[in-house]
Amino acid sequence: MNERAQPGVALAPATATLGLRPMTLDDLEAVMAIEVQAYPWPWSRGNFADTLAAGHWAQVMVDPDQGILGYIVAMRGAGELHLLNVTVIPAHQGRGLGRALLERLEDEARIRGVAEIWLEVRASNLRARALYARLGYREVGLRRQYYPGPPGRREDAILMSRPLTADFGAGVSSTAAREGVGRSRGGASAAEVPHGD
Ligand SMILES: CC(C)(COP(=O)(O)OP(=O)(O)OC[C@H]1O[C@@H](n2cnc3c(N)ncnc32)[C@H](O)[C@@H]1OP(=O)(O)O)[C@@H](O)C(=O)NCCC(=O)NCCS
Repeated sequence: MNERAQPGVALAPATATLGLRPMTLDDLEAVMAIEVQAYPWPWSRGNFADTLAAGHWAQVMVDPDQGILGYIVAMRGAGELHLLNVTVIPAHQGRGLGRALLERLEDEARIRGVAEIWLEVRASNLRARALYARLGYREVGLRRQYYPGPPGRREDAILMSRPLTADFGAGVSSTAAREGVGRSRGGASAAEVPHGD
């Protein structure tokens, strides 16, 4: 479970009435309803339950009238955060909610003194890759055949990182790359499965 309550967060003008709060088990029915709409290979309810049990940073974006419109999950590591899942309900995509969720992740990283944020994204997810690039993430590696695909096929992941330290632009943290931040689905517990597709 999350370690502490998160205050509501003011968002961009288009999202001014929305707030973020920690995800709980009671949210998982609504979260799963979004997840299965948003991904061809969605996380299971068990994946979300595992992330909560593991104490990962998990937030839902809530509209007072419409309920949960999006969510974000990240795993804390030594000096870094690893984005596991960021999703906006399809009917509300393209309104700035995804950007707001990712900016909140960056706020959380800075509050915690985290030096770097890491993520994987499907090579074919050009929209997400473009959004990450605009937010300062750089493509720093490739994980071949990382994601499930249609029967008999898998898809590469692009590894991206966003350094938050003063030496931004000086290079990739070799520590995280070496130590396998973003383990494959095969080797990770459910609570560590990066989504990224
Ligand atoms: C990826 C995702 C989280 C982005 O959230 P979103 O709310 O749709 O994104 P935003 O509205 O914040 O838009 C972010 C940027 O994408 C651009 N954008 C919006 N709709 C777009 C579209 N159809 N095609 C390309 N770019 C688009 C916006 O112009 C914006 O750019 P800007 O901030 O420079 O103006 C959301 O689309 C989603 O949930 N997708 C399905 C799940 C997924 O792929 N998650 C990411 C896994 S790595």
